[in-house]
Amino acid sequence: IKESALNEIKKVTDLEKLEELRVKFLGKKGEITQVLRGMKDLSKEERPIIGKIANEVREVIEDEIEKLKLDLKEKMQKERLVAERIDISMPGKEKIIGHRHPLISVMEELENVFMNMGFSVVQGPEIETVYNNFDALNSPENHPSRDLSDTFYITDDILLRTHTSPVQIRVMKQVKPPLRIVSAGRTFRFDDVDDTHSPMFHQFEGLVIDKNITMANLKDTIYKFVREIFGEDMKVRFRPHYFPFTEPSAEVDVSCFKCKGKGCPACNGTGWSMEILGCGMVHPKVLKNCGIDPEVYSGFAFGLGVDRIAMVKYGINNIRLLFENDMRFLEQF
Ligand code: PHE
Repeated sequence: IKESALNEIKKVTDLEKLEELRVKFLGKKGEITQVLRGMKDLSKEERPIIGKIANEVREVIEDEIEKLKLDLKEKMQKERLVAERIDISMPGKEKIIGHRHPLISVMEELENVFMNMGFSVVQGPEIETVYNNFDALNSPENHPSRDLSDTFYITDDILLRTHTSPVQIRVMKQVKPPLRIVSAGRTFRFDDVDDTHSPMFHQFEGLVIDKNITMANLKDTIYKFVREIFGEDMKVRFRPHYFPFTEPSAEVDVSCFKCKGKGCPACNGTGWSMEILGCGMVHPKVLKNCGIDPEVYSGFAFGLGVDRIAMVKYGINNIRLLFENDMRFLEQF
């Protein structure tokens, strides 16, 4: 029994097997136990001798099992320590944190520049009435921009605003002058997509109404904002233009961002960027439409193409990049 027990114990490699063996030899029905129980059938002379041997064997097996048990436990502990080891030299996992889209940065920057000049920031809806988007802004019945091929109509009277100028109407109807507001948001036109056009784009509208507001105030405001956004060395050019809701009206270009006005391939050698805003003195009819007396008050308004400003500022040559949300593009800002 002793030999076979020690032999079997030697082969054991885990605690469960070891327990099985303990039961097999030392348990209630175990082999040694059986021997000890059988003692009562032995003669008086045999009993002490066999008893001594059996007890010795039991002790040896017990000791052996106990020893192996400790060994196995120690081994398992070591294995666990190795398995659960933490490599403190491993580089940490980087958390990827999002950041502002370049368009949003530009809009926030614009809002800040104008807030510092005393303007309030307001918001208008993307779904507008035809009245606010066209009629109240003095747009003639037959103006081409009203065309189905230029404007997304929802019903005969409701459309996706084609510019942020209807916000002017909403504000002038609600707030008595003097007023100074800006408003940024999405605008929609039935345009085919190309490098500089998209059916959805962004505008930034400004409106000032007070007594004695002149074209000089308008030009000063535009100059200040261009310098704040693009830097001191940016040149500004006003070109006469026509808008139904301003008179006189102008379009504004800034010097080409690449060559700073010297002339380069990006600006076809002209030194000027594409136009970035339309502006003018609010038309007396528009003031009247909103219940403001043009004999007492005057004002100016401007509308910026936010996408174009972002393109000029960051040297982006394709408007699509702003809306595709390709991470390789966005991560550069
Ligand atoms: N709404 C005009 C446009 O979309 C821009 C503009 C705004 C012009 C305000 C004059 C005054 O082109």
